[in-house]
Amino acid sequence: MLNVGILGCGKMGKVYARWFDENPNTRLKLLYNRTFSTAERLAEQYEGCRALADWRDVVEDKGIDILGICTPSNEHCEQVLLCAKNKKNVLLEKPMAGNVLEAARMKQAADEAGINMLVGFQMRFHPVVMKASELLKEAGRIYSVDFYFGMYRPEVTWRHVLGQGGGVFKELGSHLVDLSRMWLGEVRRVSSVNRIFQNGREVEDYCNAMLEFNSGACATIACNYWDRDSRAIRCRIMAENAQINFSFSSYDPADSGIEWIDADGKKTVGFIIPATENIDAVYPGHMDSFKREIDFFVDAIRTGKDIRQSGLNGLKSMEATNAAYESQRLHKAIDNVYDSFRLDELKNSFIKQGDGKC
Ligand SMILES: NC(=O)c1ccc[n+]([C@@H]2O[C@H](COP(=O)([O-])OP(=O)(O)OC[C@H]3O[C@@H](n4cnc5c(N)ncnc54)[C@H](OP(=O)(O)O)[C@@H]3O)[C@@H](O)[C@H]2O)c1
Repeated sequence: MLNVGILGCGKMGKVYARWFDENPNTRLKLLYNRTFSTAERLAEQYEGCRALADWRDVVEDKGIDILGICTPSNEHCEQVLLCAKNKKNVLLEKPMAGNVLEAARMKQAADEAGINMLVGFQMRFHPVVMKASELLKEAGRIYSVDFYFGMYRPEVTWRHVLGQGGGVFKELGSHLVDLSRMWLGEVRRVSSVNRIFQNGREVEDYCNAMLEFNSGACATIACNYWDRDSRAIRCRIMAENAQINFSFSSYDPADSGIEWIDADGKKTVGFIIPATENIDAVYPGHMDSFKREIDFFVDAIRTGKDIRQSGLNGLKSMEATNAAYESQRLHKAIDNVYDSFRLDELKNSFIKQGDGKC
């Protein structure tokens, strides 16, 4: 049995608590939240689980094998470095880190410690996305992937403080960067514009990014927090033999659908709808994707499966996401999406810093 600690008991902490608790091979033991009473209240719901006031005590507890990290992204680096030092496996929420240098450092520390680190891009495990991946095997060469993710989020919270959460592209778009990379391979060039509309926000609530891939394929990712008429992700994939359209939302399984369009016309395609008990209560539209992600992670740890690629994947998606911000900042397309953040160069700069901080 593997024991689990969770840092951060907001919405995602609650999602992690439920699915780690339901996994037959893990047991929820320790919780931390900045506001202690929130962790205490969540711990009361799970037998044998308790809250601690200092996150370091959760990570350093000898009985804990896995950490689920759901704190703001600027907290992740220090927390993951301590996990690596204590040889604890980590599932952490996106955005992976406050910045790409921190993300690279986390990946390096995870590799050196031999721990598994998975960044929570659970959309890879969504039934509709899995169906799209299956159909793409029959669709021939992929020419383009066009994503739109819009919702109405006018509030100003911790998420909209520079460095803590991210703008709409880090928060929502990073998932779509990850899915694009899953289908299209590595990114060659990124250009982007973003805008802040809401007073009081330090990060963008509109972003339109264009990604060019080594394969020659292109992806557009448009994200908007001002869409009063949408809570959904929509995607259109143009390929040699067919077009695949799909959509789903975070909140309602009924928003989901997928179509295959070839020369013979449009067909609505079936996908596997999970059993009701496997549908997430916080984000029902994500169906069983969090459960699948957590089961995948736990199985890899139990069976000794090498999933180091997952940590590298998290870093590369972060780098490609970061390039969109660089493009806006410099008002030009970014060609060296990964090259400018080479790990060996970073390693040298870390040694020079030598202060053990991020
Ligand atoms: N994978 C997905 O689809 C998905 C969906 C939603 C969110 N997320 C990600 O999950 C992470 C958490 O989001 P959430 O929706 O769970 O957020 P949330 O419900 O707003 O909870 C925020 C959590 O962060 C803590 N926090 C906020 N500001 C803090 C600060 N300055 N210092 C320390 N702790 C602070 C809060 O503690 P208090 O209780 O003390 O305020 C709370 O534990 C984010 O990175 C987000 O991008 C992922």
